Amino acid sequence: MTHKGPQNRVRSSIENFILHLHPMRIDKRAIKFTRTFGLGGISALLFVILFISGIILRFSYIPTVEHAYESIVELQNHSIFGQFIRNIHHLSGMLLVVVSFLHLIRVYYTQSIFQRRAKNWIYGLILLFLVLFSSFTGYLLPWDQLSFWAVTVITRVIEYFPFIGVHIAQYIRSGDVINGNTLLNFYNLHTGVIPLVFVVLMSIHFWLVRNAGGVALPKNEHKKRVNVLPNLVVKEMMVASIVIAIIFIVSVFYNAPLLDEANPLKSPNPTKAPWYFLGAQELLLHVHPIFSAVIIPIGIGVFFIYLPYFNYKDLNIGVWFNSEKGKSLVIQSALLSVAFTFILIYLFEHFLHFEIWLSTYPSWISTGVFPFLLYVLPVSAYLTLIYKKGKSSNTEVIMSLTTILVSSYITMLMISLLLRGKGMLLVF
Ligand code: HEM
Repeated sequence: MTHKGPQNRVRSSIENFILHLHPMRIDKRAIKFTRTFGLGGISALLFVILFISGIILRFSYIPTVEHAYESIVELQNHSIFGQFIRNIHHLSGMLLVVVSFLHLIRVYYTQSIFQRRAKNWIYGLILLFLVLFSSFTGYLLPWDQLSFWAVTVITRVIEYFPFIGVHIAQYIRSGDVINGNTLLNFYNLHTGVIPLVFVVLMSIHFWLVRNAGGVALPKNEHKKRVNVLPNLVVKEMMVASIVIAIIFIVSVFYNAPLLDEANPLKSPNPTKAPWYFLGAQELLLHVHPIFSAVIIPIGIGVFFIYLPYFNYKDLNIGVWFNSEKGKSLVIQSALLSVAFTFILIYLFEHFLHFEIWLSTYPSWISTGVFPFLLYVLPVSAYLTLIYKKGKSSNTEVIMSLTTILVSSYITMLMISLLLRGKGMLLVF
């Protein structure tokens, strides 16, 4: 009879656990770092870091208007490693938004969202929505000027939704203004409901990746299978160690922001939304809310959900940008879109005054339809040009449109983040 020593037993339990996450053997091409940049795995790691640091924070946080801010100050100044843990949680939260978005970009541009993977794209979008919702609900908890007014801005935007907007905003706030009930609701969502839903959806997401036979790989490349242990697992450990080290080191030097305690009577100038919503806030400055808060977000949401299901004829699954031509088109579209969005915003700010020129029209036409067409018409002309004159395939045209939309949003976000000063005026 053979007796397993305690060390061996621990080792085989770890192996067992790993082999529940991964198959025994895997295509060697799938573990090349530049195939995925490890972005999905890093997102999962960030979630784990957030979960653990969040549980620690929960011991000292008090979710009431009277004590929330005080409990954060107390944590930072008087708890051992309190500031450090808060910094880790804050930084990992920001990184999760960035990394899961980059992961979306990776799976999209490597054409990994079609056929068997289409369903996982939808689960991914829901996960991204959850990441944003989680970040948004966490934003309020410090109860300082930054958090209070950023959440106020967003709930006011929701009110623009016709018919149901005011009710949804009231429901989210538990009243007409942000108050103690809002704080308690956000606290419960942020520390209970959202993490739970996240775990369930992440499990389905992982299962669907395995079900599709792992990450998408090009058809006509040389295939060779290798053991997951140690080939993939060692790489995963290395990436995880580097990410953890970076988060820990940055958290020593960079403190999560905390302004003065929330004062509902005194709004800061400028009042900005959470950073990832700044693109939407920028749009709202120039375009009537019925377009900027309703039609455009719904349109873009539907477009992204529908992305795997358009009628593509020349898919190259697993290949970056589908083809060399696709790659050039994506770069060209991104550059043009950044320049165009920037110029348009500058013109809106200083020269285009539709609300005055067309003051006889209802505002949804003068500041809605006209600015909307000013963006949509040139973009449509460009897409028609690359389709007809450039003989691009429909896959390349749709990829260009996706690139234009994403680049425009990022440009608006950067403008709002870096160039908007007092009174939300553009300052260079
Ligand atoms: C936020 C939490 C997320 C986690 C933890 C996560 C995790 C992962 C992991 C570990 C993989 C396999 C390896 C890799 O591609 O890196 C994967 C694949 C995939 N993810 Fe995500 N993901 C998340 C969000 C998203 C989002 C936002 C999307 C897109 C909307 C998405 C869509 C996909 C798709 C389509 C695949 C299959 C890719 C392929 O087969 O090559 N995921 N995800």
